[in-house]
Amino acid sequence: MLRLTIDERTIRVPVGYTLLQAARENNIPIPTLCSHEALLPYGACRLCLVELVEPRGSRLVASCGYPCQDGLVVRTQSDLVISTRRTVIELLMVTGAHLPIIRALAAEAGVDAPYVALPPNDCILCGLCVRACRDLVGVSAISLTHRGMDRTISTPFRISSADCIECGTCALVCPTGAIRIEDVTRPIRTAHTWGSPYERRACRLCEYDPPGAPFPEDYRELLGMSQNGMCET
Ligand code: FES
Repeated sequence: MLRLTIDERTIRVPVGYTLLQAARENNIPIPTLCSHEALLPYGACRLCLVELVEPRGSRLVASCGYPCQDGLVVRTQSDLVISTRRTVIELLMVTGAHLPIIRALAAEAGVDAPYVALPPNDCILCGLCVRACRDLVGVSAISLTHRGMDRTISTPFRISSADCIECGTCALVCPTGAIRIEDVTRPIRTAHTWGSPYERRACRLCEYDPPGAPFPEDYRELLGMSQNGMCET
């Protein structure tokens, strides 16, 4: 076990925990947008920044990906953290001020308006959908494309992706509800966001999951998944 201090509280956590996991397990709230417990940390949204107090000063780190170490001293509500969090939220509001989840974060942080308003966009480019499609489903039907203001998430060449199996995992993990999936007529589904009207195709990972059934401990073996979590269907 590791011993560290978060917000003046000394806590013990298992080796391998991130600061975010340690905080959550001890009911210390840290806001996040791009973190999902089924996926490895990515550090896209920077909302989870915390202050690491070190002998020669302090620095901000993304708690979702920072590993716990013995003796760490962490602050989640210091002036530095709160002012940086406010800045992150102001930036998210530039295109996302209409989104309920961004509005809720802004209200909690006391942010009234963004520096500047650009055309609204439901997608905050957190990349969760891309990573879920690649790392959980093993399909990679979508990816982050273009640069700067044109940065977006899309299917290859912005046309219907033949790799999409219409499992809906992308919509499930999206924190803003930017991805709309519709069952047109069973078993045809379409992801409106990228226009991919295909019949839902079998994936042993999602097809295993009948309503109410517990997900098995040894699901990797049952589903023929490799150690990195990729579905091998
Ligand atoms: Fe840590 Fe987004 S949750 S950077």
